[in-house]
Amino acid sequence: MEKKNIDWANLGFGYMQTDKRYVSNFKNGAWDAGALVDDSNIVMSECAGVLQYAQTVFEGLKAYTTDDGHIVTFRPDLNAERMEQSAKRLEMPVFDKGRFVEAVEQVVSANAAFVPPYGSGATLYIRPYMFGISPVIGVKPAEEYQFRVFCTPVGPYFKGGVKPLTIKISDFDRAAPHGTGHIKAGLNYAMSLHAIVTAHEEGYDENMYLDPSTRTKVEETGGANFLFVTKDGKVVTPKSDSILPSITRRSLVHVAKEYLGLTVEEREVYKDELADMAECGLCGTAAVISPVGKIVDHGKEICLASGMSEMGPVTKKLYDTLTGIQMGRIEAPEGWIHVIM
Ligand code: PLP
Ligand code: COI
Repeated sequence: MEKKNIDWANLGFGYMQTDKRYVSNFKNGAWDAGALVDDSNIVMSECAGVLQYAQTVFEGLKAYTTDDGHIVTFRPDLNAERMEQSAKRLEMPVFDKGRFVEAVEQVVSANAAFVPPYGSGATLYIRPYMFGISPVIGVKPAEEYQFRVFCTPVGPYFKGGVKPLTIKISDFDRAAPHGTGHIKAGLNYAMSLHAIVTAHEEGYDENMYLDPSTRTKVEETGGANFLFVTKDGKVVTPKSDSILPSITRRSLVHVAKEYLGLTVEEREVYKDELADMAECGLCGTAAVISPVGKIVDHGKEICLASGMSEMGPVTKKLYDTLTGIQMGRIEAPEGWIHVIM
């Protein structure tokens, strides 16, 4: 199969329309058979549930070309399970896990010419999502829904690739206790937009959000979980009911313990501990592991020992092992790699 003529090495994290996307509709209490379609546009009621009350959830995963030329995805079953949790929390129907994975397979296969080649530095980002499409004017769930999957080739989420980031501790909150921080609902991202624009205007790459009730504990950023390395080489990652259960973070915890023999603590992480950390990274599908060099707390700079020029040594090992597994260079744990073609 001939690849599209794309400058893979210089792709940013943006949208490019690809050839096919998957659509299934939920009507009269059931999902239809679903199909690949050409049209990237959606026509809906002016009063659709998604437009009025933001009833929409999404997922993000990637397809990779491995060193032996296969196209694979990474743990898509976990994305399907998380979307099920997200849908239930927003009173939406569940899209079957097996069908979710099949839809991803169909979209990737149909757009194989857009899957970046091995070693190009780019990947294919896959975006499954679901939204209320029937009219809703009183505050209640829609009766009809649409589930879709599209894909787009992407480069690094942060400009500059793996150069350490500078982030600020935000005065805005991302997710309330007992709210929706643990699911992947569009509304969580809508309310983070003002905070991220503000951070960018002030020259920061991202926000660190704290727990809203005490403002003493580290939660996550707008699009990634945190991973820290202590000065004595332990991996520490925040535990909270209001952060997204990142598939990348869960995978890295396994990699740290089982591949690298490191001690891992999943626990509450206090803002006051930040100055004692040697390394900090943002982990997620889009972010992979993006190193943080500096955290600014209302003007007070907390400089990570790993510095501003490159990834810290433990973060680098985690990065190399995870990406090695994803690209087929390192043997994966059972069930992690889903071969598409
Ligand atoms: N946290 C937030 C808020 C996110 O949007 C994401 C991205 O999906 C993550 C964490 C990382 O999750 P994952 O590793 O499953 O992509
Ligand atoms: C992902 O990593 O898949 C996300 O959804 C994060 C988003 C900020 C792009």
